[in-house]
Amino acid sequence: MKNLVLIGFMGCGKSTLAVELSKICGRFVLDSDKIIEQSSGISVKEFFARFGEETFRKKEGEFVSWVESSVRGAIIATGGGMPIYHDLKPMGKVVFLSISFEAICARLSQQDYDSRPLFANLSQAKELFLARQESYKAQADIILDATSQDLAAQVLGQIH
Ligand code: S3P
Repeated sequence: MKNLVLIGFMGCGKSTLAVELSKICGRFVLDSDKIIEQSSGISVKEFFARFGEETFRKKEGEFVSWVESSVRGAIIATGGGMPIYHDLKPMGKVVFLSISFEAICARLSQQDYDSRPLFANLSQAKELFLARQESYKAQADIILDATSQDLAAQVLGQIH
């Protein structure tokens, strides 16, 4: 069984949807940020501060290789930058959760901002958002509106 890979910008709801899907279909979730945090023993924010973004992207690359070679049938929640730096298609069926920058900002709490080093500056985050859209689309097998009420049902409808 193929993995289901959720991609999209920070705050689009990948991790939340992954858990919702898991509850419905019983597949296990792997969240790349959480795996990197568990393996390194520090938060993503601290990882960026101590080792820099380049090392973080290398870790993400190791995660992608591991999933590709060793994981089947899981729901994978990816970090928002992963599709920009790595080819995700070999990991499984890729679902892009599309959303406007304004809708993301309306959703995020202060803690959500604080934990995301690349969201520290709003105008830079917006530039990043705009610059990444084409890459998300290029990696996607399926594109869904992240603000839909029945998002989980839509995903499941596409993969069965
Ligand atoms: C990043 C997104 C974050 C995390 C890191 C970098 C990005 O994950 O991987 O802070 O480059 O967009 P979320 O998309 O889960 O916030």
